[in-house]
Amino acid sequence: MMQKDFSLKHLNTFGIDVCAAQFAVFTNVQVLKDCLLRAEYTPWILGGGSNILLVDDVQLCVLKNEITGIDILAENENELVIHVGAGVVWHDLVTWCISRNFGGIENLSLIPGTVGAAPIQNIGAYGTELAETLISLRAMRLLDGELIEFTTGDCEFGYRDSVFKGRLKGQHCILDIDLRLTKPPHAIEISYGAINDLIEKKGIHSPGIRDVYDTVIEIRRSKLPDPLQIGNAGSFFKNPTIDEIKFKALHAVFTDMPVFVTEENQYKIPAGWLIEQCGWKGRRIGNVGCYEKQALVIVNYGGASGREIYDHAMRVQDSVKERFDIVLQTEVNVV
Ligand code: EPU
Repeated sequence: MMQKDFSLKHLNTFGIDVCAAQFAVFTNVQVLKDCLLRAEYTPWILGGGSNILLVDDVQLCVLKNEITGIDILAENENELVIHVGAGVVWHDLVTWCISRNFGGIENLSLIPGTVGAAPIQNIGAYGTELAETLISLRAMRLLDGELIEFTTGDCEFGYRDSVFKGRLKGQHCILDIDLRLTKPPHAIEISYGAINDLIEKKGIHSPGIRDVYDTVIEIRRSKLPDPLQIGNAGSFFKNPTIDEIKFKALHAVFTDMPVFVTEENQYKIPAGWLIEQCGWKGRRIGNVGCYEKQALVIVNYGGASGREIYDHAMRVQDSVKERFDIVLQTEVNVV
């Protein structure tokens, strides 16, 4: 049922109280088609609302994707392919895999949001990205209802990036995805410092996917705020990359600046560190602030408007630009 002037407060993890001109939920392709026919405004697909900042009321037809279902499409003794509806909660999918001992996405535990949102920003954490397990996805082109299949190559994945965030932004609704998972023995990825350290501390010598799952959950809970308690959308900015010349110039001044050298020989600097250096970590202005345990997460302490959060983000961006001459790019979708 199409609703008018519908509050999105409970449908975005920042908890911003703005209205959508039109709103409906769809649970299958046919309902989505009907919604598109009845849309009086530009259609805009909503998943878990965990990577968006709604600045003002939206003059859009917001359609919430609740297509569910997890099925095994094919399997042999080493691996399997699963087919997952875009409306499934991402972490529920990870838990489903762990309970069946299927490996591949355990490092991506507890990432908020839905399966359909995962390819848009190529979700990643602790040394793994969705792009490594995704085989293909199906999407509906909103303009004409055409169903299109995208292979991993077609998705043009990058660091927190895909064709759906760039060239084809806002043009498709992701309906379902296929992932390739492994059966035991699994390849375990724990080279990311924090996981390895904690697993060792727990005295686990040959960790399995459940150990990785538990550890990632523990780490995330220890430094990322729970959106149900404090409104947030995870990392607000991407970690910026700079070239060698710029890195050397900055490193001469900021000798303790952390860095990861990428495969393209670029220098990736943690945005959280840059923001902390500018004095924002744990600093609150009105209802908004940078989280005390991870400066990259902008939080709504309650009652903040989308505009207040946006203004805070711009203040943070300005101070990083001023101090380091680095322009932070938002990771969150600002609507
Ligand atoms: N750091 C600070 N101060 C801070 C935060 C971080 O100095 O307040 C420095 C520390 O040196 C730390 C380093 O930054 O070692 C990296 O921090 P962290 O491990 O928390 O990771 P991140 O680079 O800040 C990225 C992702 C997270 C993901 C983690 C773990 C981005 C933009 N963010 O954060 O993803 O969970 O790595 O893999 O790439 C998200 O996308 O919403 C998200 C939370």
